[in-house]
Amino acid sequence: MLAGLAEIAEVGRDSRRSGYSRHLWQAADLELRSWFVERAERLGLDVETDRNGNLWAWWGQPGTDAVVTGSHLDSVPGGGAYDGPLGVVSSLEAIARLQASGFVASRPCAILMFAEEEGSRFGVACLGSRLLAGAIDADQARALTDRDGVTLAEAARTVGVDPAHLGVDRDALARIGLFIELHVEQGRGLIDLGQPVAVASSILAHGRWRLTVTGQGNHAGATTMAERRDPMVAAAAAIVGVQTAARNRSGTRATIGRIEAIPGGTNVIASRVDAWLDARAETDEETRLLVADIAARAQQAAAQNGCSATLTEESWAGAVQFHPGLRERFAQALGQVPELATGAGHDAGVLAARVPSAMLFVRNPTGISHAPEEFAEVADCVAGVDALELLLRELL
Ligand code: GLV
Ligand code: MN
Ligand code: MN
Ligand code: MN
Repeated sequence: MLAGLAEIAEVGRDSRRSGYSRHLWQAADLELRSWFVERAERLGLDVETDRNGNLWAWWGQPGTDAVVTGSHLDSVPGGGAYDGPLGVVSSLEAIARLQASGFVASRPCAILMFAEEEGSRFGVACLGSRLLAGAIDADQARALTDRDGVTLAEAARTVGVDPAHLGVDRDALARIGLFIELHVEQGRGLIDLGQPVAVASSILAHGRWRLTVTGQGNHAGATTMAERRDPMVAAAAAIVGVQTAARNRSGTRATIGRIEAIPGGTNVIASRVDAWLDARAETDEETRLLVADIAARAQQAAAQNGCSATLTEESWAGAVQFHPGLRERFAQALGQVPELATGAGHDAGVLAARVPSAMLFVRNPTGISHAPEEFAEVADCVAGVDALELLLRELL
Protein backbone atom coordinates (compact mmCIF):
# COMPACT_ATOMS: atom_id res chain seq x y z
CA MET A 1 0.00 0.00 0.00
CA LEU A 2 2.76 2.42 0.94
CA ALA A 3 4.72 1.39 -2.13
CA GLY A 4 1.61 2.29 -4.14
CA LEU A 5 1.51 5.78 -2.69
CA ALA A 6 5.27 6.10 -3.26
CA GLU A 7 4.91 5.05 -6.91
CA ILE A 8 2.54 7.92 -7.62
CA ALA A 9 4.26 10.45 -5.38
CA GLU A 10 5.70 12.39 -8.30
CA VAL A 11 2.65 12.21 -10.58
CA GLY A 12 0.95 15.57 -10.98
CA ARG A 13 3.16 17.45 -8.57
CA ASP A 14 2.38 21.13 -8.98
CA SER A 15 5.57 23.12 -8.59
CA ARG A 16 3.78 26.45 -8.93
CA ARG A 17 1.13 25.83 -6.27
CA SER A 18 2.92 23.01 -4.39
CA GLY A 19 0.96 19.83 -3.70
CA TYR A 20 -0.77 17.92 -6.52
CA SER A 21 -2.90 19.03 -9.45
CA ARG A 22 -4.40 15.93 -11.02
CA HIS A 23 -7.33 16.78 -13.25
CA LEU A 24 -9.64 14.62 -15.29
CA TRP A 25 -8.14 13.16 -18.47
CA GLN A 26 -5.13 15.48 -18.39
CA ALA A 27 -1.58 14.10 -18.31
CA ALA A 28 -1.31 13.33 -14.57
CA ASP A 29 -4.77 11.77 -14.39
CA LEU A 30 -4.09 9.59 -17.43
CA GLU A 31 -0.82 8.46 -15.87
CA LEU A 32 -2.63 7.60 -12.62
CA ARG A 33 -5.27 5.65 -14.52
CA SER A 34 -2.57 3.60 -16.27
CA TRP A 35 -0.88 3.05 -12.93
CA PHE A 36 -4.18 1.83 -11.44
CA VAL A 37 -4.81 -0.56 -14.33
CA GLU A 38 -1.30 -1.95 -14.04
CA ARG A 39 -1.59 -2.35 -10.26
CA ALA A 40 -4.99 -4.04 -10.51
CA GLU A 41 -3.85 -6.38 -13.27
CA ARG A 42 -0.87 -7.39 -11.16
CA LEU A 43 -3.47 -8.74 -8.69
CA GLY A 44 -5.21 -10.59 -11.50
CA LEU A 45 -8.16 -8.16 -11.50
CA ASP A 46 -9.99 -7.44 -14.77
CA VAL A 47 -10.24 -3.74 -15.45
CA GLU A 48 -12.99 -2.11 -17.48
CA THR A 49 -13.88 1.51 -18.16
CA ASP A 50 -17.59 2.26 -17.81
CA ARG A 51 -19.50 4.61 -20.10
CA ASN A 52 -18.67 7.59 -17.85
CA GLY A 53 -14.93 7.00 -17.60
CA ASN A 54 -14.97 5.36 -14.15
CA LEU A 55 -12.59 2.38 -13.84
CA TRP A 56 -13.80 -0.94 -12.41
CA ALA A 57 -11.33 -3.65 -11.38
CA TRP A 58 -13.12 -6.96 -10.85
CA TRP A 59 -11.83 -9.69 -8.59
CA GLY A 60 -13.38 -12.75 -10.22
CA GLN A 61 -16.42 -12.57 -12.46
CA PRO A 62 -18.35 -9.31 -12.65
CA GLY A 63 -21.88 -9.79 -11.41
CA THR A 64 -24.78 -8.31 -9.49
CA ASP A 65 -24.95 -7.74 -5.73
CA ALA A 66 -21.20 -7.04 -5.73
CA VAL A 67 -19.26 -5.65 -2.81
CA VAL A 68 -17.60 -2.59 -4.33
CA THR A 69 -14.92 -0.47 -2.71
CA GLY A 70 -12.81 2.39 -3.99
CA SER A 71 -12.32 6.12 -4.23
CA HIS A 72 -10.70 8.56 -6.69
CA LEU A 73 -7.28 9.61 -7.95
CA ASP A 74 -7.95 13.17 -9.15
CA SER A 75 -7.22 16.13 -6.89
CA VAL A 76 -8.09 19.73 -6.21
CA PRO A 77 -5.57 22.30 -7.53
CA GLY A 78 -2.59 22.05 -5.16
CA GLY A 79 -4.12 19.17 -3.19
CA GLY A 80 -2.63 16.62 -0.82
CA ALA A 81 -1.38 13.09 -1.43
CA TYR A 82 -4.12 11.21 0.45
CA ASP A 83 -7.54 12.59 -0.55
CA GLY A 84 -8.66 9.85 -2.92
CA PRO A 85 -5.46 7.84 -3.42
CA LEU A 86 -5.53 6.47 0.15
CA GLY A 87 -8.85 4.76 -0.57
CA VAL A 88 -7.59 3.37 -3.87
CA VAL A 89 -4.35 1.92 -2.51
CA SER A 90 -6.16 0.61 0.57
CA SER A 91 -8.69 -1.19 -1.65
CA LEU A 92 -5.88 -2.78 -3.67
CA GLU A 93 -4.08 -3.79 -0.49
CA ALA A 94 -7.18 -5.25 1.16
CA ILE A 95 -7.85 -7.46 -1.86
CA ALA A 96 -4.18 -8.47 -2.07
CA ARG A 97 -4.36 -9.59 1.56
CA LEU A 98 -7.58 -11.56 1.00
CA GLN A 99 -5.98 -13.28 -1.98
CA ALA A 100 -2.79 -14.06 -0.06
CA SER A 101 -4.78 -15.66 2.75
CA GLY A 102 -6.63 -17.93 0.30
CA PHE A 103 -9.98 -16.28 1.04
CA VAL A 104 -12.73 -17.32 -1.34
CA ALA A 105 -15.38 -14.66 -1.97
CA SER A 106 -18.97 -15.80 -2.20
CA ARG A 107 -20.15 -12.72 -4.10
CA PRO A 108 -18.62 -10.52 -6.79
CA CYS A 109 -16.11 -7.88 -5.72
CA ALA A 110 -14.71 -4.82 -7.49
CA ILE A 111 -12.60 -1.75 -6.93
CA LEU A 112 -14.20 1.37 -8.38
CA MET A 113 -12.03 4.38 -9.27
CA PHE A 114 -14.23 7.40 -9.92
CA ALA A 115 -13.64 10.10 -12.54
CA GLU A 116 -13.46 13.81 -11.54
CA GLU A 117 -14.42 13.50 -7.88
CA GLU A 118 -13.17 16.99 -7.07
CA GLY A 119 -14.79 18.78 -9.97
CA SER A 120 -11.50 20.59 -10.51
CA ARG A 121 -11.65 20.50 -14.29
CA PHE A 122 -15.36 20.70 -15.14
CA GLY A 123 -16.69 22.35 -11.99
CA VAL A 124 -19.07 19.65 -10.74
CA ALA A 125 -17.76 17.53 -7.85
CA CYS A 126 -18.37 13.76 -7.95
CA LEU A 127 -19.02 14.00 -11.67
CA GLY A 128 -18.25 10.31 -12.38
CA SER A 129 -20.52 9.04 -9.64
CA ARG A 130 -23.26 11.55 -10.48
CA LEU A 131 -23.23 10.41 -14.10
CA LEU A 132 -23.23 6.75 -13.09
CA ALA A 133 -26.11 7.28 -10.66
CA GLY A 134 -28.11 9.60 -12.91
CA ALA A 135 -27.65 12.45 -10.43
CA ILE A 136 -26.74 14.89 -13.21
CA ASP A 137 -28.50 15.36 -16.52
CA ALA A 138 -26.35 13.93 -19.32
CA ASP A 139 -26.89 16.91 -21.65
CA GLN A 140 -25.95 19.32 -18.89
CA ALA A 141 -22.82 17.25 -18.19
CA ARG A 142 -21.75 17.07 -21.83
CA ALA A 143 -21.91 20.86 -22.05
CA LEU A 144 -19.75 21.52 -18.96
CA THR A 145 -16.58 23.38 -19.93
CA ASP A 146 -13.14 23.56 -18.42
CA ARG A 147 -11.14 26.78 -18.00
CA ASP A 148 -9.90 26.54 -21.58
CA GLY A 149 -13.42 26.23 -22.97
CA VAL A 150 -13.13 22.50 -23.73
CA THR A 151 -16.44 20.72 -23.17
CA LEU A 152 -16.74 17.46 -21.26
CA ALA A 153 -18.03 15.89 -24.48
CA GLU A 154 -14.89 17.00 -26.37
CA ALA A 155 -12.57 15.89 -23.58
CA ALA A 156 -14.30 12.50 -23.39
CA ARG A 157 -13.86 11.91 -27.10
CA THR A 158 -10.09 12.51 -26.87
CA VAL A 159 -9.73 9.62 -24.43
CA GLY A 160 -12.05 7.23 -26.25
CA VAL A 161 -15.12 7.74 -24.04
CA ASP A 162 -18.15 8.18 -26.32
CA PRO A 163 -19.89 11.39 -25.19
CA ALA A 164 -23.21 10.06 -26.51
CA HIS A 165 -23.02 7.32 -23.87
CA LEU A 166 -22.35 9.58 -20.90
CA GLY A 167 -25.13 9.39 -18.31
CA VAL A 168 -26.98 7.08 -15.99
CA ASP A 169 -25.56 3.58 -16.20
CA ARG A 170 -28.26 1.23 -14.98
CA ASP A 171 -26.29 -1.92 -15.78
CA ALA A 172 -23.29 -0.74 -13.79
CA LEU A 173 -25.50 0.43 -10.92
CA ALA A 174 -27.32 -2.89 -10.85
CA ARG A 175 -24.02 -4.61 -10.14
CA ILE A 176 -23.38 -2.70 -6.93
CA GLY A 177 -24.75 -4.53 -3.91
CA LEU A 178 -23.05 -2.10 -1.57
CA PHE A 179 -20.26 0.48 -1.73
CA ILE A 180 -17.53 1.23 0.81
CA GLU A 181 -15.16 4.20 0.45
CA LEU A 182 -12.14 4.51 2.70
CA HIS A 183 -10.90 8.11 2.90
CA VAL A 184 -8.42 10.21 4.81
CA GLU A 185 -10.30 12.33 7.33
CA GLN A 186 -10.41 15.97 6.29
CA GLY A 187 -11.00 17.56 9.66
CA ARG A 188 -9.94 17.08 13.29
CA GLY A 189 -12.56 14.56 14.45
CA LEU A 190 -10.20 11.61 14.92
CA ILE A 191 -7.44 13.79 16.39
CA ASP A 192 -9.88 14.95 19.06
CA LEU A 193 -11.08 11.39 19.71
CA GLY A 194 -7.55 9.97 19.80
CA GLN A 195 -8.59 7.18 17.41
CA PRO A 196 -7.09 6.01 14.11
CA VAL A 197 -10.29 5.02 12.27
CA ALA A 198 -13.95 6.03 12.21
CA VAL A 199 -17.13 5.07 10.39
CA ALA A 200 -18.88 7.95 8.61
CA SER A 201 -22.38 8.88 9.71
CA SER A 202 -23.38 11.76 7.43
CA ILE A 203 -22.31 14.45 4.97
CA LEU A 204 -23.38 18.09 5.08
CA ALA A 205 -25.65 19.42 2.33
CA HIS A 206 -23.49 21.38 -0.08
CA GLY A 207 -23.36 23.04 -3.44
CA ARG A 208 -21.53 25.41 -5.73
CA TRP A 209 -22.77 28.72 -7.09
CA ARG A 210 -21.27 31.19 -9.52
CA LEU A 211 -21.31 34.80 -8.32
CA THR A 212 -21.14 37.20 -11.27
CA VAL A 213 -20.58 40.87 -10.50
CA THR A 214 -20.93 43.21 -13.46
CA GLY A 215 -19.64 46.79 -13.57
CA GLN A 216 -18.02 49.03 -16.15
CA GLY A 217 -14.62 48.20 -17.58
CA ASN A 218 -12.48 51.32 -17.84
CA HIS A 219 -9.02 52.89 -17.76
CA ALA A 220 -7.15 52.62 -14.44
CA GLY A 221 -5.46 56.00 -14.90
CA ALA A 222 -8.06 58.07 -16.66
CA THR A 223 -11.06 57.18 -14.48
CA THR A 224 -11.44 59.15 -11.25
CA MET A 225 -12.33 57.21 -8.12
CA ALA A 226 -15.77 58.87 -8.04
CA GLU A 227 -16.60 57.77 -11.59
CA ARG A 228 -15.96 54.08 -11.14
CA ARG A 229 -18.31 51.11 -11.20
CA ASP A 230 -15.64 48.61 -10.22
CA PRO A 231 -16.87 45.00 -9.84
CA MET A 232 -13.68 44.00 -7.99
CA VAL A 233 -14.57 46.35 -5.15
CA ALA A 234 -18.15 45.07 -5.16
CA ALA A 235 -16.90 41.47 -5.17
CA ALA A 236 -14.58 42.19 -2.24
CA ALA A 237 -17.51 43.52 -0.22
CA ALA A 238 -19.65 40.54 -1.31
CA ILE A 239 -16.96 38.14 -0.10
CA VAL A 240 -16.94 39.78 3.31
CA GLY A 241 -20.72 39.25 3.21
CA VAL A 242 -20.19 35.54 2.52
CA GLN A 243 -18.16 35.24 5.69
CA THR A 244 -20.63 37.27 7.74
CA ALA A 245 -23.62 35.26 6.51
CA ALA A 246 -21.96 31.94 7.41
CA ARG A 247 -20.73 33.16 10.79
CA ASN A 248 -24.23 34.34 11.65
CA ARG A 249 -25.63 30.81 11.22
CA SER A 250 -24.21 28.16 13.48
CA GLY A 251 -22.67 25.15 11.78
CA THR A 252 -22.75 26.58 8.25
CA ARG A 253 -19.69 26.97 6.02
CA ALA A 254 -19.21 29.25 3.04
CA THR A 255 -16.13 29.82 0.93
CA ILE A 256 -15.04 31.77 -2.11
CA GLY A 257 -11.89 29.91 -3.19
CA ARG A 258 -11.74 30.97 -6.80
CA ILE A 259 -12.15 34.37 -8.41
CA GLU A 260 -11.55 35.76 -11.88
CA ALA A 261 -11.42 39.40 -12.94
CA ILE A 262 -12.41 39.95 -16.56
CA PRO A 263 -10.53 40.96 -18.63
CA GLY A 264 -7.80 40.85 -15.93
CA GLY A 265 -5.29 43.63 -16.59
CA THR A 266 -3.32 45.59 -13.99
CA ASN A 267 -4.20 48.88 -15.67
CA VAL A 268 -7.79 47.89 -16.40
CA ILE A 269 -10.81 48.37 -14.15
CA ALA A 270 -12.55 45.01 -14.62
CA SER A 271 -15.87 44.87 -16.42
CA ARG A 272 -16.91 41.69 -14.66
CA VAL A 273 -15.86 39.44 -11.84
CA ASP A 274 -16.74 35.77 -11.57
CA ALA A 275 -16.32 34.12 -8.18
CA TRP A 276 -17.32 30.64 -7.11
CA LEU A 277 -19.15 30.02 -3.85
CA ASP A 278 -19.01 26.72 -1.98
CA ALA A 279 -21.71 26.65 0.73
CA ARG A 280 -22.56 23.87 3.18
CA ALA A 281 -24.83 23.25 6.15
CA GLU A 282 -26.34 20.38 8.09
CA THR A 283 -29.65 20.41 6.25
CA ASP A 284 -30.73 21.28 2.73
CA GLU A 285 -33.02 24.00 4.09
CA GLU A 286 -30.28 25.67 6.16
CA THR A 287 -28.00 25.65 3.14
CA ARG A 288 -30.69 27.29 0.98
CA LEU A 289 -31.26 29.97 3.63
CA LEU A 290 -27.53 30.63 3.88
CA VAL A 291 -27.22 31.02 0.11
CA ALA A 292 -30.24 33.33 -0.05
CA ASP A 293 -28.63 35.51 2.63
CA ILE A 294 -25.35 35.55 0.68
CA ALA A 295 -27.16 36.51 -2.53
CA ALA A 296 -28.90 39.42 -0.78
CA ARG A 297 -25.61 40.66 0.67
CA ALA A 298 -23.89 40.38 -2.71
CA GLN A 299 -26.65 42.36 -4.41
CA GLN A 300 -26.41 45.06 -1.79
CA ALA A 301 -22.60 45.20 -2.11
CA ALA A 302 -22.96 45.46 -5.88
CA ALA A 303 -25.56 48.23 -5.72
CA GLN A 304 -23.36 50.27 -3.36
CA ASN A 305 -20.66 50.20 -6.03
CA GLY A 306 -22.85 50.90 -9.05
CA CYS A 307 -22.69 47.26 -10.12
CA SER A 308 -25.09 44.32 -10.33
CA ALA A 309 -24.69 40.77 -8.99
CA THR A 310 -26.25 37.40 -9.74
CA LEU A 311 -25.76 34.07 -8.00
CA THR A 312 -26.34 30.98 -10.16
CA GLU A 313 -26.39 27.39 -8.90
CA GLU A 314 -23.84 25.17 -10.65
CA SER A 315 -24.25 21.99 -8.60
CA TRP A 316 -26.08 20.71 -5.56
CA ALA A 317 -25.78 17.72 -3.22
CA GLY A 318 -28.36 17.25 -0.48
CA ALA A 319 -27.39 16.10 3.02
CA VAL A 320 -26.56 12.39 3.22
CA GLN A 321 -27.06 9.86 6.00
CA PHE A 322 -25.04 6.73 5.36
CA HIS A 323 -26.80 3.36 5.38
CA PRO A 324 -27.88 2.53 8.97
CA GLY A 325 -27.66 -1.23 8.40
CA LEU A 326 -24.10 -1.04 7.09
CA ARG A 327 -23.03 1.31 9.88
CA GLU A 328 -24.48 -1.12 12.39
CA ARG A 329 -22.63 -4.01 10.76
CA PHE A 330 -19.40 -2.03 10.71
CA ALA A 331 -19.78 -1.19 14.39
CA GLN A 332 -20.32 -4.86 15.23
CA ALA A 333 -17.38 -6.03 13.12
CA LEU A 334 -14.93 -3.33 14.18
CA GLY A 335 -15.82 -3.06 17.87
CA GLN A 336 -15.15 0.29 19.53
CA VAL A 337 -15.09 2.40 16.41
CA PRO A 338 -16.36 5.98 16.58
CA GLU A 339 -18.82 7.50 14.12
CA LEU A 340 -18.06 10.87 12.55
CA ALA A 341 -20.02 13.30 10.42
CA THR A 342 -18.13 15.12 7.69
CA GLY A 343 -18.34 18.39 5.81
CA ALA A 344 -16.59 16.94 2.75
CA GLY A 345 -18.42 15.52 -0.23
CA HIS A 346 -17.68 12.02 -1.52
CA ASP A 347 -18.69 9.65 -4.31
CA ALA A 348 -20.04 7.36 -1.58
CA GLY A 349 -22.46 10.17 -0.71
CA VAL A 350 -23.75 10.30 -4.28
CA LEU A 351 -24.09 6.52 -4.49
CA ALA A 352 -25.92 6.48 -1.13
CA ALA A 353 -29.07 7.65 -2.91
CA ARG A 354 -29.05 4.48 -5.04
CA VAL A 355 -27.27 1.69 -3.15
CA PRO A 356 -26.30 0.96 0.47
CA SER A 357 -23.11 2.98 1.00
CA ALA A 358 -20.73 3.58 3.86
CA MET A 359 -17.33 5.10 4.57
CA LEU A 360 -14.29 4.62 6.73
CA PHE A 361 -12.14 7.59 7.77
CA VAL A 362 -8.43 7.41 8.60
CA ARG A 363 -6.98 9.98 11.01
CA ASN A 364 -5.23 12.99 9.48
CA PRO A 365 -2.81 14.31 12.14
CA THR A 366 -2.62 17.77 10.60
CA GLY A 367 -6.39 18.18 10.38
CA ILE A 368 -5.68 19.92 7.03
CA SER A 369 -6.97 18.74 3.66
CA HIS A 370 -7.21 20.06 0.09
CA ALA A 371 -3.71 21.36 0.79
CA PRO A 372 -0.21 19.85 0.75
CA GLU A 373 -0.19 19.46 4.56
CA GLU A 374 -2.82 16.69 4.38
CA PHE A 375 -1.26 13.59 5.97
CA ALA A 376 -1.81 10.13 7.46
CA GLU A 377 0.63 8.19 9.66
CA VAL A 378 1.70 4.74 8.44
CA ALA A 379 0.21 3.04 11.50
CA ASP A 380 -3.16 4.72 10.87
CA CYS A 381 -3.13 3.76 7.18
CA VAL A 382 -2.51 0.18 8.29
CA ALA A 383 -5.40 0.41 10.77
CA GLY A 384 -7.57 1.62 7.90
CA VAL A 385 -6.67 -1.33 5.68
CA ASP A 386 -7.13 -3.72 8.62
CA ALA A 387 -10.67 -2.39 9.01
CA LEU A 388 -11.41 -2.53 5.29
CA GLU A 389 -10.05 -6.06 4.98
CA LEU A 390 -12.13 -7.21 7.93
CA LEU A 391 -15.28 -5.68 6.48
CA LEU A 392 -14.67 -7.22 3.07
CA ARG A 393 -14.23 -10.62 4.77
CA GLU A 394 -17.55 -10.09 6.55
CA LEU A 395 -19.43 -8.89 3.50
CA LEU A 396 -17.97 -11.18 0.85
C1 GLV B 1 -14.68 17.32 -2.11
O1 GLV B 1 -13.65 16.98 -1.58
C2 GLV B 1 -15.44 18.35 -1.48
O2 GLV B 1 -16.09 18.07 -0.47
O3 GLV B 1 -15.35 19.48 -1.94
MN1 MN C 1 -11.39 16.26 -1.86
MN1 MN D 1 -11.85 12.70 -1.78
MN1 MN E 1 -14.15 14.91 -1.97
